[in-house]
Amino acid sequence: MRLPAFLGLLALMLQEAGTASLPKKMRKRREEEGDAYAALPLGDEALNPESYGEVIDLSNYEELTDYGDQSPEVKVTSLAPPTRTSLTKSTKALRTPSPNPMLARPTTLGLLTSPANHGLPTCLVCVCLGSSVYCDDIELESIPPLPRATAYLYARFNRISHIRAEDFKGLTKMKRIDLSGNSISSIDNDAFLLLAALRDLILSENQLAALPVLPNGIEILDVRLNRLQSSGIQPEAFRALEKLRFLYLADNLLESVPGPLPLSLRSLHLQNNRIETMRSDSFCDAEEHRHTRRQLEDIRLDGNPINLSLFPGAYFCLPRLPIGRFI
Ligand SMILES: *[C@@H]1O[C@H](CO)[C@@H](O)[C@H](O)[C@H]1NC(C)=O
Repeated sequence: MRLPAFLGLLALMLQEAGTASLPKKMRKRREEEGDAYAALPLGDEALNPESYGEVIDLSNYEELTDYGDQSPEVKVTSLAPPTRTSLTKSTKALRTPSPNPMLARPTTLGLLTSPANHGLPTCLVCVCLGSSVYCDDIELESIPPLPRATAYLYARFNRISHIRAEDFKGLTKMKRIDLSGNSISSIDNDAFLLLAALRDLILSENQLAALPVLPNGIEILDVRLNRLQSSGIQPEAFRALEKLRFLYLADNLLESVPGPLPLSLRSLHLQNNRIETMRSDSFCDAEEHRHTRRQLEDIRLDGNPINLSLFPGAYFCLPRLPIGRFI
């Protein structure tokens, strides 16, 4: 089969498979977490992945069995068609309609990660719907080149380890980036900085020890389940983020409450870190006793080796006490 034909077919399969059900792994995780993502506000244009309930009938893909004379010497990261074995295997899986077609896809999805294939349109391996690009669970090793109009990127549960400055360059429409469940250990400092429309940045379940500079319009920052240390957060990192409402930093290696925190903040999740002590002005301005922080109603400090009773002057401006150990 010729290359264009193969790519066309691949695109078709992925369009279909992508709109079927979410990968089982992800659904399971979402259930375990009580689906914290679903609680986050999504943009109007973002589709709710949970609505992808429909299981498609793959019986139309019979012709995939015809991979007569492919060379067996092919790596998954190359543009050439995959080996006969892997295709035969996945085709077999496709022919028996499986309850989860995502698991039965061929293993050619490393396609985009090879620098030689830079021109390959991302929408062949990801599902592009309006301004949303869905690249979940397809073994990506880096951010693929994205359409200029991309506003929502979902690239969860891949193998991305590094975010380069140029990955999001010029994507001025980008509102939400969700890269949870990758292996990201480093992000170029200005990779997100110029994304003026960015509201939600989801980096949970990665290997980050430090945060990059954040764009001012950000509303939700989720870096749960990483390896963040206090030294990896710049002293003024959050001060200028005047729209930041949700700051999720639970399950990291933080030793202190980050700050100063913008007045817009509603939720600060710091549970399961290594916080032992706190400045008395972490939340409230000690100089200004009439000052209140009505928005900051949800602070979690449980799972830290800190005795919150030792800081009685730290909470007077809050609408309610932080959750944590007071004895
Ligand atoms: C926590 O601090 C309070 C107030 O100083 C003190 O009475 C209590 O014993 C401390 N608890 C622990 C476990 O150190």
